[in-house]
Amino acid sequence: MPANLENQIAIVTGGADGIGCAISQLFCKQGARVCVADVNAEMGEAFVHELNANGYKAIFVQTDISSSDSVQKMVSATASKLGNPTILVNNAGIIWENPDLLDTSEEDWRRSFGVNVDGMWNCSKAVIPYMKEARSGSIVNVGSVHGFKIVRGHFPYAVTKHAVTGLTKNLAVEFGEFNIRVNALCPGMIETPNAFKWWASMDDPEGCRKALGELHPLKRNGTLDEIAYPALFLAGPESSFMTGQNLIVDGGRTSVYHD
Ligand SMILES: NC(=O)c1ccc[n+]([C@@H]2O[C@H](COP(=O)([O-])OP(=O)(O)OC[C@H]3O[C@@H](n4cnc5c(N)ncnc54)[C@H](O)[C@@H]3O)[C@@H](O)[C@H]2O)c1
Repeated sequence: MPANLENQIAIVTGGADGIGCAISQLFCKQGARVCVADVNAEMGEAFVHELNANGYKAIFVQTDISSSDSVQKMVSATASKLGNPTILVNNAGIIWENPDLLDTSEEDWRRSFGVNVDGMWNCSKAVIPYMKEARSGSIVNVGSVHGFKIVRGHFPYAVTKHAVTGLTKNLAVEFGEFNIRVNALCPGMIETPNAFKWWASMDDPEGCRKALGELHPLKRNGTLDEIAYPALFLAGPESSFMTGQNLIVDGGRTSVYHD
């Protein structure tokens, strides 16, 4: 049975770029109506224009997921323009590089948690009442391999991604009786447009890209499709008996012991 999102209304946060963009596109192809919710209006509007020009049904709502007011407005706009949300992909997140933990400002700490953790909770809190009423729903939280292992120099990113696995399990346990499933999708290094921009800022972009790939037993970084399809699996009917789980899609990276 091919995964099919016909009649599903999906919200994808951070859907204007990178992984969220790939997920939004695949969900549209699978028949879902999609709300792309992102702070970046320029990219979000251009992307949604392209989706609709290709015959899909999508809207863009400029949203800052760290603000519960902004999220409530986005979810209400989705319900009135597309229908009651049945799928939420909590994808938007910000990565943080920080060589010295003790230099972390209170502002940086709050901003990391504001987007990566509060943002997921704000969106979940706003869609769950619709899902409870329908006694059906699927939430996919995009975590990371940083939610399982500590990579030095990324504080407090890794702390926020550990929190994602806790939030996932807690929501799964509390809302399972309403047939609302909550799972986490945890990628390894994925080659997004922003990853290429980051490599371009280095002395040896191709060398850096390859060196990161070498950390994975599959000897390469992952592609956008290699995350979008697992997201489709978790969001759709083919994972109907899965909840509270972490699906790690990392080319084997978390299986390696690095000293
Ligand atoms: N790319 C990777 O290698 C990788 C690996 C593991 C996990 N992840 C996780 O995947 C998710 C997506 O990562 P990506 O690499 O595609 O990121 P990206 O930076 O390419 O895209 C993130 C999107 O989120 C949006 N965004 C940022 N703050 C927001 C806010 N407050 N409200 C709404 N939208 C906001 C940005 O505008 C952007 O469009 C993140 O949660 C990230 O932690 C990425």
